[in-house]
Formats: sequence, C-alpha cells, structure tokens
Amino acid sequence: MTDIPIIWILGGPGCGKGTQCAKIVEKYGFTHLSSGDLLRNEVASGSDKGRKLQAIMASGGLVSNEEVLSLLNDAIVRSKGNSKGFLIDGYPREKNQGVEFEIRVAPADLALYFDCSEETMLKRIMARAAAAAVQRADDNEKTIRQRLKTFKNNTNDILELYNEKTLTINAERDVDDIFLEVCQAIDCVLKKKAKQVAAQC
Ligand code: AP5
Repeated sequence: MTDIPIIWILGGPGCGKGTQCAKIVEKYGFTHLSSGDLLRNEVASGSDKGRKLQAIMASGGLVSNEEVLSLLNDAIVRSKGNSKGFLIDGYPREKNQGVEFEIRVAPADLALYFDCSEETMLKRIMARAAAAAVQRADDNEKTIRQRLKTFKNNTNDILELYNEKTLTINAERDVDDIFLEVCQAIDCVLKKKAKQVAAQC
C-alpha cells in the first residue's frame, strides 16, 4: 500500500468532491471510493442494516465509523492489487475516522479540502436535485441544512489534526480551474512516491 497514493477528499456537501474525483479518475486512473456511494449501495441492497443507514443519512447525521470504515476497508482490499491510487471521497468526516483509517488501512499521503461557502453548496445541491431523474433522499433543503451543520461541527478538528498533509483549495471557482490545482498536488505526490520506491531498490 505504501507505493501507491492514498488521497482523502474532504469538503462539505455539494462542494464538488464527486465532480473532481471523476476528473481525477479520468486523468490518473485512480480507484474512487466514495463513502456516501458505498453506504447508498448498502441501502439499495434492502438489508436491515441498509434501512438503519438510510434513516441516519436522511437525517443528515453521520453513520458510525465502524460501519463506514469496514465498507471502505473491504473495497480497498478488493482493488488493492490492481490500483494506481485511492481517492477516499467523503472520509474522514470526524477526526477519529482519520486516526482509525491510518491505523487500520494506511497513512494518507494527501488530503484535498474543497473550501466552499454554505450558500454555494446549498445552491449546487438544490440545482443537482432539480435536474436529477432520481433524487437522492438527502437532497432536500431541510436535510442539506443538517448535513451542512454536521460538516461545520467536525471539520475544524480534522483540518487542525491533518494540517501538514492538507491542501485547501478554493472550490468556489470553475470546475476546470479547481482541477488544475488538484493536478499540481497529485503530480507532486506521485513524484514523492516514485522517489520513495526508487530509494527501496
Ligand atoms: P455523501 O454522499 O458523501 O454526500 P456529501 O458529502 O453531502 O456530498 P455530495 O455527494 O452531495 O456532494 P459533492 O461534494 O460530491 O459534490 P458534487 O461533485 O456532487 O454523503 C451522504 C451521507 O452519507 C452523509 O450525510 C452521511 O450521512 C453519510 N456518510 C458519508 N460519508 C460518511 C462518513 N465518512 N462517516 C459517516 N457518515 C458518512 O457536486 C454537487 C453539484 O454541484 C453537482 O451538480 C455538480 O455538477 C455541481 N458542481 C460541482 N463543482 C462545481 C463547480 N466548481 N462549479 C459549479 N458547479 C459545480
């Protein structure tokens, strides 16, 4: 695991995490693991566990870390052998999630934090919901406001703890301008990784 990059993708609901991850996958061929998507897959399975998860997600709160980390860890183990790098999207959402990830999985090389105002995030999600053929259960104004609150309550602690490996990116800009900055950061991580691998030979 130490020879391929692990990048945490942080930021509030609607800041553009998924949008930037899609572009990173296209350019770098990394494995994109979104904690929200993994949880929604579990909900879609119709299991009892899925029903409990659905209730938490619809309230805008956080699912237990054990649940999220074990879904992520399983997905990482499944693709480990043939991955060029991992994008862990929407994780960590509170600081213990980061601590446990680094103990159980591996240290993250970089955290990209997409910084965006609440007003912009709310507008973006409302626009996404209005355009969607199938609307997400948590994409309504009441739940979005709760998701924003949950995000606000936890983010400073994460940014403080992982200050040294976090790059804050202004996510109020155009998608492609943001992506340019993302690429510079990823290229830098890839160079560092290549040097580390060379040093082991
Ligand atoms: P999750 O699915 O992760 O949702 P989220 O964090 O609220 O983020 P979104 O997926 O809504 O937005 P995004 O930042 O990816 O933005 P996007 O690119 O789509 O989590 C859902 C729930 O699952 C949580 O509330 C929680 O309950 C649970 N959960 C998840 N992870 C957990 C964890 N680690 N621990 C515990 N619980 C967890 O963009 C949004 C819209 O804006 C799109 O329409 C897009 O086209 C547009 N857009 C994007 N960028 C720009 C731009 N630069 N300019 C203009 N428009 C843009």
